Amino acid sequence: MTAKIESRFKPLFEPIKINKVKLKNRIVMGPMGLSVPTAEGAPSDQAIAFYEARARGGTGMIIISAAATARSADEAPPTTPWLRWDIEENVPKFQKLAEAIHAFETPVVIELMSSFGRLGMPKTMNKIAASPKELTIPEDHFPKGFVIPGGITLSAPKAATIEEIKEVEAGTIQAAERVFRAGFDGVEVNANMSYFTSSFVIQRTNWRTDEYGGPLENRARILINIVRGIRAVTSPDFIIGLRIPANDFLPDGAKAVEFATIAKIVEAEGIDYVALTYGAYETMDRSIPMKDGEMAESGDARVFRKMLSVPIFIQGFHNPELAAKAIAEGHGDVVMLARQLLAEPNYVNKLQEGKTSQIVACDRDQLCMRRMFYGLPVRCSMNPEMGREARIRDGKRRPLKRYFQAPLEHLILLLTAKKWFMTPLMKIVRKILKKIGY
Ligand SMILES: Cc1cc2nc3c(=O)[nH]c(=O)nc-3n(C[C@H](O)[C@H](O)[C@H](O)COP(=O)(O)O)c2cc1C
Ligand code: SF4
Repeated sequence: MTAKIESRFKPLFEPIKINKVKLKNRIVMGPMGLSVPTAEGAPSDQAIAFYEARARGGTGMIIISAAATARSADEAPPTTPWLRWDIEENVPKFQKLAEAIHAFETPVVIELMSSFGRLGMPKTMNKIAASPKELTIPEDHFPKGFVIPGGITLSAPKAATIEEIKEVEAGTIQAAERVFRAGFDGVEVNANMSYFTSSFVIQRTNWRTDEYGGPLENRARILINIVRGIRAVTSPDFIIGLRIPANDFLPDGAKAVEFATIAKIVEAEGIDYVALTYGAYETMDRSIPMKDGEMAESGDARVFRKMLSVPIFIQGFHNPELAAKAIAEGHGDVVMLARQLLAEPNYVNKLQEGKTSQIVACDRDQLCMRRMFYGLPVRCSMNPEMGREARIRDGKRRPLKRYFQAPLEHLILLLTAKKWFMTPLMKIVRKILKKIGY
């Protein structure tokens, strides 16, 4: 099989180890919150079949989407339901997921969602973040395909007390211990987008005057405590990754050097890789890019590569030639693919077998994101099997309820793409959000 790899793709197949775990190639699946859990927050048959298909397709490592680490995180997500690690009884069910992925010699890590922070629903009436900074997503910063006239402003969270911060730290560490016991290769601590942990990292959302605010070392403290705690309850070989933006594209936000300095401080605690993202919720359009190569063109990824010793995971390289070039030129060590692996689960195998022309390209129409945003099951416009892997694998018929649900979902997607529909709707939505304090 390896003999057919074209020389232009070879950098993607150079051996690499993350901690002590060997990756068979440098293409990793990025996290996507589409894991369709059971009512208890355990992986469903469909979730297992979905990840199994990407492992079978040759993917070098899989990062499973953000999973709630505490009840408060589960109660507050803007979209439900999420995988849950706060429930001990879920451990054996997660074990099955790890085994299904490992069957293809594919390592697997879980992105831990400590709390939704500034994005969280106030269901628990305890929406907390580093400081009370509200979140506004302007109309023109939604990804392509979203029509949200007037944008969205969410209420300011409450500044977390030291006790609440310690509780989040402890919950995340406990969740990581369960991930370890369930046989996963590691966890990814997220400090990206506008979630709880990320609100500490930059001054724009953190103006605390205690040990969690002020100098960089203090703003990194929550990440340091979480990483230190995870290392203590797992093992030296357990992978711990850090997910952090390379640039948030906010005028009063931070750029690569500041984020890389935070990552450097956390690196000293023993992380094994840094996964780079772009943007924040306020600049959501940059997080789900419309074109390839921005992290290389800007030089942002290289800043991290120069400042840190651990492997750097980069994103935004759907085109394998550009991905291989970015690695060869030293912008990063591993390429993360998210949407591209929804559209084409066999991406790596096809590259390896010289069938590049048969790779189904993601067309970036953002249907997957729009479906997730509106709480609909995620599907892909380029891959009709996506989201239906278990049913197809088991040769089952389409469930009867889908004959009613699917046309309704199409209608929702059609109407929410129209300005004449969304303008009055958003006025109502804004009133509701204000009333419920979201
Ligand atoms: C449907 C969908 C769900 C996502 N969910 C998550 C998530 O749970 N956690 C996260 O860190 N990123 C999430 N992302 C962002 C992706 O991991 C990735 O950073 C982004 O899509 C850009 O990479 P791509 O060009 O390879 O798609 C999601 C993206 C999509 C399209
Ligand atoms: S729905 Fe569209 S944007 Fe999303 S993965 Fe499929 S092709 Fe790509």
